Amino acid sequence: MCGIVGYIGHRDAFPIIIEGLKRLEYRGYDSAGIALFDGTDLKVTKTKGKVVDLEDRIKNEITTNGTLGIGHTRWATHGVPNDVNAHPHYSNSGNLVIIHNGIIENYESLKKELSKRGYTFKSDTDTEVLINLIEDVKIKENVKLGKAVQVALNQVVGAYSIAVFDKNKPDEIVIARLGSPLAVGIGENEFFIASDASPFLEYTKNAIYLEDEEMAIIRANKEIKIRKIKDDSLVDPYVQELQMNLEQIEKGGYDHFMLKEIFEQPNAIKDTYRGRMLVKEGIIKMAGVDDNIEKFLNANRVIIVACGTSWHAGLVAEYIFEDLARIPVEVEYASEFRYRNPVITNKDVVIAISQSGETADTLAAIKLAKANGAFVFGVCNVVGSSIARETHAGAYTHAGPEIGVASTKAFTTQITLLTLIALKLAKVKGEISNTNYRYHLQELELIPEKVQKALESDEHIKAVASIYKDARNCLYLGRGYNFPVALEGALKLKEISYIHAEGYPAAEMKHGPIALIDENMPIVVIATKKGHYEKVVSNIEEIKARQGKIIGIVTEGDTNVKKLADHVIEVPETLESLSPLLTTIPLQLLSYHIAVMLGKNVDQPRNLAKSVTVE
Ligand code: F6R
Repeated sequence: MCGIVGYIGHRDAFPIIIEGLKRLEYRGYDSAGIALFDGTDLKVTKTKGKVVDLEDRIKNEITTNGTLGIGHTRWATHGVPNDVNAHPHYSNSGNLVIIHNGIIENYESLKKELSKRGYTFKSDTDTEVLINLIEDVKIKENVKLGKAVQVALNQVVGAYSIAVFDKNKPDEIVIARLGSPLAVGIGENEFFIASDASPFLEYTKNAIYLEDEEMAIIRANKEIKIRKIKDDSLVDPYVQELQMNLEQIEKGGYDHFMLKEIFEQPNAIKDTYRGRMLVKEGIIKMAGVDDNIEKFLNANRVIIVACGTSWHAGLVAEYIFEDLARIPVEVEYASEFRYRNPVITNKDVVIAISQSGETADTLAAIKLAKANGAFVFGVCNVVGSSIARETHAGAYTHAGPEIGVASTKAFTTQITLLTLIALKLAKVKGEISNTNYRYHLQELELIPEKVQKALESDEHIKAVASIYKDARNCLYLGRGYNFPVALEGALKLKEISYIHAEGYPAAEMKHGPIALIDENMPIVVIATKKGHYEKVVSNIEEIKARQGKIIGIVTEGDTNVKKLADHVIEVPETLESLSPLLTTIPLQLLSYHIAVMLGKNVDQPRNLAKSVTVE
């Protein structure tokens, strides 16, 4: 995790770095720091807390002049969040300074070696070890900074994206990447460095994404030189034109990014199927699937790997793939899959789902699957992300930047994309009738306006939230396609409001969780028509008999559940297979309003980060 930003050029580096760090706070926000070269000396300020705390501190501590600088927003791995462990870190001489995103796994042995050679360490971080290793190489081998970084990195085990400079040579920054993302914005005689492109969007649309095991030496007024860390070979820079714009990453009048992103879902879903689903013609086209259709058709099974909310989208996909396309699916937590010696063959298709495209466990699961001969397909949101590049083929969700740490539009767009794939395969395999296929396309096309309708219940949901905001526990129940939605609803509530919540298949309730039910327990039950409606209504009766408080998510016009539940929240009617796209919406809003009422930091909940690049 952690966000890194750097600038070298002719502008004031300070505002670029501070603004950039704010945009990268989704990657971690427990401490922040900045190092500037002010023309004569190196100025470093760092603090526990957020980037605004850093700004406050800087007002009293340093001048903010200088056209060279690096900054960091941290998500602690080694060492508690405090001022000392915050980045940037110096070398013992005070000449070299570094920011780092990732983990140096062999830092203890390196530290021991360096200590024997007289190096001392102020912080508990692996990063301080790395910068001293670089200094040690530089002095011992009498080499320039770039070479020293390269030699040091060849001794390192772990993951990193780093930026380093030497205060005695303030015309260059050295950067490198392995396992953590790093983008370079190319301006006129200036360069921007960042964990993703958002910090430099207003300055340039031209960017280079460093590949794993690459490093670069960046000099103001000159070009960028990229090399392979291992064998020193030069790499031709591949400059991409960015499609994102600044407006997309700002709040646009909403109080929080999460709320903005919830309300963006009608358009985000449309953007996911736009150009891919031709309803009149009855065609679904997706190059990543079309070009590899035999792989999908000949697969023994599909294995879906993902984490968190993306894993929940994978569970929904399991229902759709099996139900419509009759393809056996297994859904795996990437973190378990990668370590449990799974049986993978070249007849398996692995689908990796990830909003950020940077999740370390998902990335490792992909590598394992590839090594065992499986065909790996990526479903990512962030264009050019590590997972998008590591997979054999894939499709982007096109949800636009998701900044709120709690995933919302990523979930519904992942489901939309996976539904398109399942429908396509069902059609090609002849598992779905023409009529049913067409009906699905028509219904999917209507989903954005139905999501819009579901969003209109916002005020009502807010009123329900005000009644249950002080609950300590909450149960979420659903069946079939809506069981994963229950899991997702519970995750949303716990991660932003810190209320304990559990999702369960409704019928499993009587095998344990029913013991929790009393008059203080709110229970959200997804009870839309179709599917297992009558059975879920029976489950609601069982809850009612034990005085649980029932919040029913029901189909518009439902009267049965209304009689039993304490509150109902309506969503428009749709096909059962598409219902998660609608039932998710009130659950997102419910958790959002509860968290706001409790005064929690909705966009940056404690202990979490948007992009989990550590295992
Ligand atoms: C929850 C949430 C996380 C992510 C998980 C995977 O709201 O955002 O559970 O879903 O960390 O992240 P990605 O999809 O980026 O791989």
